Amino acid sequence: MLPHAYALDGRVAIVTGAGSGIGRATARVLAEAGARVVCADLDGEAATATAKECDGIPAAVDVSRRAAVFALVESTAEQQGRLDILCNVAGVIRTGLVVDVPEEDLDAVMDVNFKGTFHTCQAAARIMCAQGGGAVVNTASGAVDSATPEIMSYSASKAAVVQLTKNLAAEVGRYGVRVNAVAPGLVRTAMTARHYLRPDGSVDETARAAGEKPLRRMSPLGLIGEPEDIAYAIHYLVSDAARFVTGQILRPNGGVAMPW
Ligand SMILES: NC(=O)c1ccc[n+]([C@@H]2O[C@H](COP(=O)([O-])OP(=O)(O)OC[C@H]3O[C@@H](n4cnc5c(N)ncnc54)[C@H](O)[C@@H]3O)[C@@H](O)[C@H]2O)c1
Repeated sequence: MLPHAYALDGRVAIVTGAGSGIGRATARVLAEAGARVVCADLDGEAATATAKECDGIPAAVDVSRRAAVFALVESTAEQQGRLDILCNVAGVIRTGLVVDVPEEDLDAVMDVNFKGTFHTCQAAARIMCAQGGGAVVNTASGAVDSATPEIMSYSASKAAVVQLTKNLAAEVGRYGVRVNAVAPGLVRTAMTARHYLRPDGSVDETARAAGEKPLRRMSPLGLIGEPEDIAYAIHYLVSDAARFVTGQILRPNGGVAMPW
């Protein structure tokens, strides 16, 4: 009974950002639970590598390109006969003070994080509503729970993802489609390792451990997240175990923020 609620046998899933970090872990966890996973990423080689690991289907796609997103979602439903799960994990970050942020940076971040999520949600929701069910999980961020300096573009894009999640959930619930988001705390991935890169591109683990120290202190658990910590939360949200859950923002964040 309990494992059955988490089983995804026979379900078809699309995971964006599947080439790295949280998206890659999500593709692997969903596949382990039985789903057939389309591993989509801007980096086609990385998508192929993940697909090999989880016996999935690779797809090179830029989520900010609306026509390409619709083509991917529609061809997946056509070729696989259905689309049950969409996980929007692809994301980018750019830093800069609000007073300095160039408009191009704001556009670049909004185009991928917010509009990319919007395109996939719109394409998938049309199919899921017609099909009579489905589950969408979007990726927000702990950045929506605070005002961290120098990442306004990123935080604003993620706040927009939160609102999109709630609005869509309110509109498609009657068709049996659930829409939720995760708002992860700090997770060890390429996105966060960028602060600790040596000139040759390798990660300086000593610098990383030192950089993470104050962040660990902010967590009651004293933890920094691993990609699987978020993938397991996403797995729960797309599974039947979450059949009564929609429009919610789940925060796998080590307890760093505890909003109502
Ligand atoms: N790592 C963290 O601490 C953290 C915290 C909160 C939220 N997040 C969010 O989690 C998600 C995954 O982040 P991650 O840490 O695994 O990062 P990552 O950099 O390891 O992976 C991001 C993936 O997205 C892909 N991508 C980027 N632009 C794309 C596009 N236009 N189309 C398709 N794919 C694209 C990249 O190629 C990469 O494979 C992001 O949305 C990020 O904002 C991360």
